[in-house]
This record gives sequence, structure tokens and C-alpha cells, in this order.
Amino acid sequence: DDARIARIAAAITVFPGFPKPGISFQDVTGIFHKPEVFRDAIGLFVERYKGKGVTLVAGIEARAFFFAPTIALELGAKFVPLRKPRKLPGEVISEEYSLEYRTDKIEMQIGAVEPNDRAIIVDDLIATGGTLSAAIKLLERAGAEVVECACVIELQELKGRAKLGKTPVFVLVETN
Ligand code: PRP
Ligand code: MG
Repeated sequence: DDARIARIAAAITVFPGFPKPGISFQDVTGIFHKPEVFRDAIGLFVERYKGKGVTLVAGIEARAFFFAPTIALELGAKFVPLRKPRKLPGEVISEEYSLEYRTDKIEMQIGAVEPNDRAIIVDDLIATGGTLSAAIKLLERAGAEVVECACVIELQELKGRAKLGKTPVFVLVETN
């Protein structure tokens, strides 16, 4: 696993000062430029959750959409998108949250979740944890059990885990 994690870490590019001064953007796009590294990342997540009774993989717009559907497919679980406001039709529930430099909202179609669903929530990165904590609330309000959150990168300095209460976070690459 160390070799795979090293390849994933090497494929992440940091852009200081993007999208604004003081923010360093951790870009996961490079993972998808090398199919073998994409496979490394999906494999590490799938191996962790295979056989654990996961029935739902939620992914948060936009960057989790690169990973979550593939993980869901490999696990034989449904993929549920958590989207920015006013993108999803029908009956939706929403949660507001704050990030490093702004506030936002995510929404989920209520009909997607069944009682007894065992969910994981995927995202590219945990920073303050605001996004994932809103995602956990959405799934729990809809009646799912959130087994774990799974991210490619953790910005440890921001202590986002502390915001997620009892829900554990699994990460591939830790950084500051
Ligand atoms: C980024 C990132 C995570 C979130 C992490 O998404 O992809 O979803 O911020 O921050 P937090 O832990 O402080 O909540 P962003 O909303 O910037 O947009 P995108 O995924 O649509 O690019
Ligand atoms: Mg995001």
C-alpha cells in the first residue's frame, strides 16, 4: 500500500495562492492523467470497504464525482450525488455549511436513500470538515447509517475530523 500511496501523493499538485491568496489548492486531477494511479486510488478505497455491507456511496459535487461512482460500482453499491443548490430536481433536503473562505449548501434527493442503507461519503479532501459534516447530516436525516468518510487528502492542520463527531475518516494522503 505504501507504494500506491506514494504514487497517489506524487500525482497531487499543490497550487499556492489559488483560488485566492493564502489558500493552497491541492489538485487531484493528476491522478486521472495516469490510469494506473487512478486504479491505485480506487483500489485502496474498494479494498477497505469490500465485504463491509456498504450499500450506498455518496459523493460531494464536484471533486468527489471523479471518484465516488467508480468506488460504488466496484462495491456493488448505489451512488448518490450530493449537489450544490438548485441542481437536483424533485424532493430534496439541504444542509448549509461553512468552509475555509465562504459558506455553501449541499442537497440530496430524498428518495435515493432507503432505511438500512449503510453509507460511506467520499470526497477528494477534508479541510475544515464543514462539507463532510453537512453530508453526514443529510444522510442521517434521510435514515442512512454513515459508516465512514473516505478522502484522498487530509489537511491535518485544520482539524476537520473533530467536526465529524463519531463518524471516522479514512484518508490516503495526509498533509499540512
Ligand atoms: C472543496 C473540496 C471539499 C471541500 C473541503 O470543495 O473538494 O469538498 O472543499 O473543505 P472543508 O473540509 O473545509 O469543508 P469545494 O466546495 O471548494 O468545491 P468543488 O469540489 O466543487 O471543487
Ligand atoms: Mg468539493
